[in-house]
Amino acid sequence: MTSSGGTMSGTDRTSNKVLLAWVEDYAALTKPKDIYWCDGSEDEYQRLCAEMVDAGTLIPLNPDKRPGSFLARSHPKDVARVEGRTYICSDSPEEAGPTNNWMAPDEMRGTLDGLFDGCMAGRTLYVVPFSMGPLGSPIAHIGVELTDSPYVAVSMKVMTRMGQKVLDTLGDDGVFVPCLHSVGAPLAAGEADSAWPCNETKYIVHFPQDRSIWSFGSGYGGNALLGKKCLALRIASMMAHDEGWLAEHMLILGLESPEAETTYVAAAFPSACGKTNLAMMVPPAGFDGWKVKTVGDDIAWIKKGPDGDLRAINPEAGYFGVAPGTSMQSNPNAMKSLVKDCIFTNVALTDDGDVWWEGMDGDPPAHAIDWQGNDWTPDAGRLASHPNARFTVSAKQCPSFDPAWDDPNGVPISAFIFGGRLSETFPLVYGADSWEHGVYMAATMGSEATAAADDQAAIRRDPMAMLPFCGYNMADYWSHWLELGQSLKAPPKVFRVNWFRKDAAGKFIWPGFGDNMRVIKWIVDRVHGQVEAVDHPLGQTPHYNDLTWTGLDFSEAAFNELMSLKKAAGLVEVEEQAEYFSRFGGRLPAELANERKRQAERFMASPDVWRADA
Ligand code: OXD
Ligand code: MN
Repeated sequence: MTSSGGTMSGTDRTSNKVLLAWVEDYAALTKPKDIYWCDGSEDEYQRLCAEMVDAGTLIPLNPDKRPGSFLARSHPKDVARVEGRTYICSDSPEEAGPTNNWMAPDEMRGTLDGLFDGCMAGRTLYVVPFSMGPLGSPIAHIGVELTDSPYVAVSMKVMTRMGQKVLDTLGDDGVFVPCLHSVGAPLAAGEADSAWPCNETKYIVHFPQDRSIWSFGSGYGGNALLGKKCLALRIASMMAHDEGWLAEHMLILGLESPEAETTYVAAAFPSACGKTNLAMMVPPAGFDGWKVKTVGDDIAWIKKGPDGDLRAINPEAGYFGVAPGTSMQSNPNAMKSLVKDCIFTNVALTDDGDVWWEGMDGDPPAHAIDWQGNDWTPDAGRLASHPNARFTVSAKQCPSFDPAWDDPNGVPISAFIFGGRLSETFPLVYGADSWEHGVYMAATMGSEATAAADDQAAIRRDPMAMLPFCGYNMADYWSHWLELGQSLKAPPKVFRVNWFRKDAAGKFIWPGFGDNMRVIKWIVDRVHGQVEAVDHPLGQTPHYNDLTWTGLDFSEAAFNELMSLKKAAGLVEVEEQAEYFSRFGGRLPAELANERKRQAERFMASPDVWRADA
């Protein structure tokens, strides 16, 4: 086996003995043909991309249309995160809790040792050192991913701070999270490779005891870019529990007023609820002088600051966003981010060498090559891009990028916002009257299934949008949230929002997108004590006149409809919550049971239909 990285071996790159020994051990297990230590340079990125073009993994796009950009097509069975194959291997199933898959650590280690033995034969093992968060920040953490996928190595350069500078920061005895990844497709001598190697068998495994990650069989997204969901959420949520901080599935945005005062909020939404759109929102007409500043679109790490406030960083350095549905109407800042230096995966290729996806502005192309490499025309009766097709792009390319993203001290968080996709019952926005009430609102959050036609009305409970990402027992996670807020002098205010309520005809009542700014501005006004609220059976809601309506024709009657609540639906909701809570047995924090009881009493005391104008 040879070692390269230019001509450098591991010992030329780091003197961290734990890291060197770990790389040696896992190279001995996985048996790659060589080892390459990534330096994170632009040269290296271009070289690896060129090698993938030669191998057929990347297709260069037309440099006049999308300079520096590539298209990748994955294997048709490797297109999304595999929640059913994702495991938390704590000592006992109770520690993982009823919402996670569990297997005994020894049994899982035995399985993985077998799968990883020789799994990198014929391939290069890339050593990818990365920092989640600004290098050296007290909120950041370092990981090292060993992978046999060059697509993963270049994606990690975009999505994290990656390379030699991380090894330098790690030093001789710095601590890192070991992340082992293989596509699980060893090559025999002389065997031809495929453009997207992967394995039918997939395992995405987290070991809480040694805080390590093992991922086998997939080269796609959160299964393979291990800094994102595996480290920054599942492993980090365990670390945060033990160390008194929060690792959350949240965007971070700053709202800057015309007086140049910025208020930062963090917001959690389940996947596919428009988090990236909200993070990059363009204020609508009537908001002259207001600016949205994007710190992050997916993950927030939040620690107590020296002044007793909560300070947040976005641990990522890029966006791995869903392409279909992204347009100049839904997210102009994303579209402007994607004009160059971008990796697209599973979108369609147009005849002039550009990309296309469903929902993009303008007419569909008359002909394209679909995400599986086949001819496609608009009457083909199938999608040209996969619904989970993605773009990978540097955060700095976003016109609303906030340079505070690189502040090692993070940004101060003034409010937490939680939202799902709920076509009935829940109003546009309401606020909590206490920290405990806010944690209850977040813990009972749900979202409607969007893909399964026979399950349209079913609400999947997705507490804090962390259902697939909480690395330990969800009830203990709720206790942790309660304790953390109770330890603060002035915890952030908590809100729930719902952009997705429909009228009797099944039409969305709220216009959404940029108009969500009207709601965020009211939240910021509440944070600063500038507006009073109405008592609603669910919490504190706005007066019609306290929202800024300039540029939008939205009547008070329509607003009152959007905010209305049917008592019967509320009572069904608290019953379903009781059933959900019962899954957690004695670990359920008493505060949440009390808040549910208090909510049921408020519904009981409310009229059959609550309306502000009734
Ligand atoms: C994501 C997700 O990819 O939440 O961000 O699924
Ligand atoms: Mn996400």
